Amino acid sequence: MALKITVIGTGYLGATHAAAMAELGFEVLGLDVVTEKIAMLQRGEVPMYEPGLEELLRKHVAGIEGASGRLRFTTDPAEAADFGDVHFICVNTPQKHGEYACDMSYVDTALESLAKHLTKASLVVGKSTVPVGSADRLAARLAELAPAGDEVELAWNPEFLREGFAVQDTLHPDRIVVGVRSERAEKLLREVYATPIAEGSPFVVTDFPTAELVKTSANSFLATKISFINAMAEVCEAAGGDVVKLAEALGHDDRIGKKFLRAGIGFGGGCLPKDIRAFMARAGELGADQALTFLREIDSINMRRRGQMVEMTREALGGGSFLGKRVAVLGATFKPDSDDVRDSPALNVAGQIHLQGGQVTVYDPKGMVNARRLFPTLGYADTATDAVRGADVVLHLTEWREFRELDPAALASVATTPVILDGRNALDPQTWRAAGWTYRAMGRPAA
Ligand code: UDX
Repeated sequence: MALKITVIGTGYLGATHAAAMAELGFEVLGLDVVTEKIAMLQRGEVPMYEPGLEELLRKHVAGIEGASGRLRFTTDPAEAADFGDVHFICVNTPQKHGEYACDMSYVDTALESLAKHLTKASLVVGKSTVPVGSADRLAARLAELAPAGDEVELAWNPEFLREGFAVQDTLHPDRIVVGVRSERAEKLLREVYATPIAEGSPFVVTDFPTAELVKTSANSFLATKISFINAMAEVCEAAGGDVVKLAEALGHDDRIGKKFLRAGIGFGGGCLPKDIRAFMARAGELGADQALTFLREIDSINMRRRGQMVEMTREALGGGSFLGKRVAVLGATFKPDSDDVRDSPALNVAGQIHLQGGQVTVYDPKGMVNARRLFPTLGYADTATDAVRGADVVLHLTEWREFRELDPAALASVATTPVILDGRNALDPQTWRAAGWTYRAMGRPAA
């Protein structure tokens, strides 16, 4: 009989995982404590913007016309415990307030509220990003609480999905990593992932700590790559070099590779910043803090970029105060194809200029609602053209395709001063200069 799967936590990761499991042919029950979220999902609506996710959901949610009906939702942990053979824990692990460490309370609560109802054999699989050592602790807690005793087991299966590509990354993962303690657990997970395994996704079996570490070290490596090229951008600025050409040339070395070498205002979002901080905090607890002191530098190179963008803007406005200056900001989300503004470098820069007296007007294709909620005091426009109207300087801070397709000549006619600062090195300097703009980018020579 086909496995039945539950997904606990239907946020970004969980909603995608639940829909993907239904797409792979399983009966799926999604569980969340937020009733409004469950009501939305039941109607086939996704609480965030993610390309392809709503379509996938509507293809499977029970009660939607023409859907497979394999996907249902509930707020009742007892129902989930009764339903599932495999339970995936997909709740978030945010940074603790005022500390580097990550907040495990959602994972702990999710596991505990499920465990006490587990009266039959099942596998509980953690997907959330957690400090190394958590799986060990949670396995003990599970054994303590589950009425089915030894019949219930834990495994750890980190998730590597990228926002904007979540559906694709979940259905066709570039690797599947499972931390297991028994052959039975491995076998069950091979069954869950039979389709991607058959398509060639590598399946890596490890112990608990290694599985947990794969995720945090992968994100640390990516953050390091971005901060490396941003450090080179600083050197290029000082030496008159061009970081875009430098990255292109470095990328031809296939030991280095060209991905994640885009210099600009740096990384943000709900993962990289908090994950490297939580990793440092955990290494400290383990007495291995020296091994990760370099991440402090990675973090500070990254955070410095935001201030440098503010200073570049000040300089473009002739130096001195921002008072009375009109600044257009294109982009609010932490990356394109997402409506996520968590720790967004773009909004951070917009906010800093606003707090220093600049009149900032922001436009983003998908992030307006979330941006307004986080920074209600900034100005917002309904289109890129409206944001640029009357601007003394334009900042390009999130590299949406829509911005690359703008007509620079038409925009030049509505700006007060046609000066554009490209914080993502994603616009074509020639095109903008030919249309009369002064184009400046981070780590590249002026005209
Ligand atoms: C990241 C990891 O990539 C993913 O594997 C993990 O599961 C979750 O965290 P995500 O947060 O969706 O995914 O974003 P990612 O595509 O990694 O980008 C992170 C940030 O780095 C963005 O702000 C992006 O603009 C920035 N970035 C990325 C750069 O500044 N330069 C680059 O070259 C690449």
